[in-house]
Amino acid sequence: MLVFNHQSELVAALATARSAGRSIGLVPTMGALHEGHASLVRRSVAENDVTVVSVFVNPTQFNDPTDLKNYPRTLEADTRLLAQLGADFVYAPTVDDVYPEPDTRRFSYPPIDTVMEGARRPGHFNGVCQIVSKLFQIVDPTRAYFGEKDFQQIAVIRAMVRDLGFKLELCPCPIVREESGLALSSRNTLLSDSEKATAVHISRTLARSVDYARTHTVAETHDHVVDTLNAIDGLEVEYYEIVDGETLQPVSAWNEASDVVGCITVYCGRRPVRLIDNIHYITR
Ligand code: PAF
Repeated sequence: MLVFNHQSELVAALATARSAGRSIGLVPTMGALHEGHASLVRRSVAENDVTVVSVFVNPTQFNDPTDLKNYPRTLEADTRLLAQLGADFVYAPTVDDVYPEPDTRRFSYPPIDTVMEGARRPGHFNGVCQIVSKLFQIVDPTRAYFGEKDFQQIAVIRAMVRDLGFKLELCPCPIVREESGLALSSRNTLLSDSEKATAVHISRTLARSVDYARTHTVAETHDHVVDTLNAIDGLEVEYYEIVDGETLQPVSAWNEASDVVGCITVYCGRRPVRLIDNIHYITR
């Protein structure tokens, strides 16, 4: 496995693979890798001749400087894990390598990027589209892999791929959870053991709400989830929205869409740490 800090080196290494007609899988990450990332890398290795993993904490997608500063950075451990997983190339650039000039491009895909995370984190999805489009341009992958924990992120990237005509297959991969049900996230490393035990209620409440939803309306299910979690010491729901999985617009009845997804963001603990998760109520 080769680790590159400069995009020119990565482009040169990929040129050889490309001219030999080899397929290229890309797994974009911000590092602090866990089993969720590992599942993406394993899938890419299984489905492509060459796998590229980027490890870059992208400053343009952080609207909160403290969040950017506190984001975990564990490059040495990350590269060790990636070598074990069979990745071929790691791209771990500096900010200057990715953004030699300030990126003034603007991406806008309303209403997909204006609801939920888009409404609470101004500029976040613009930053995600800036870095992901750059990675797509640099790597020109056959397939790109993203985790479904960031459900809205995948919808925004799908819109960008269509808009800019990238010729690649977008491969969403299922959420990986701890045995307790807690969705794996790099941010979990910021939780103390007791905060982690509290955070387990998020996935547990979502999972139980699927049963509750069988005999209750969308509005009742929404309130049930929010009230249950807010009643737990150390948790505060920022938003819970039950939406059409394609348009990300709120639904008011279960039969309004063929994919109905509950998307949640919860603040957990003293710091506090912002955790996201989601659950599918209806998938037809
Ligand atoms: O999901 C993430 O980790 C990031 O948003 C991504 C896609 C790697 C872009 O920085």
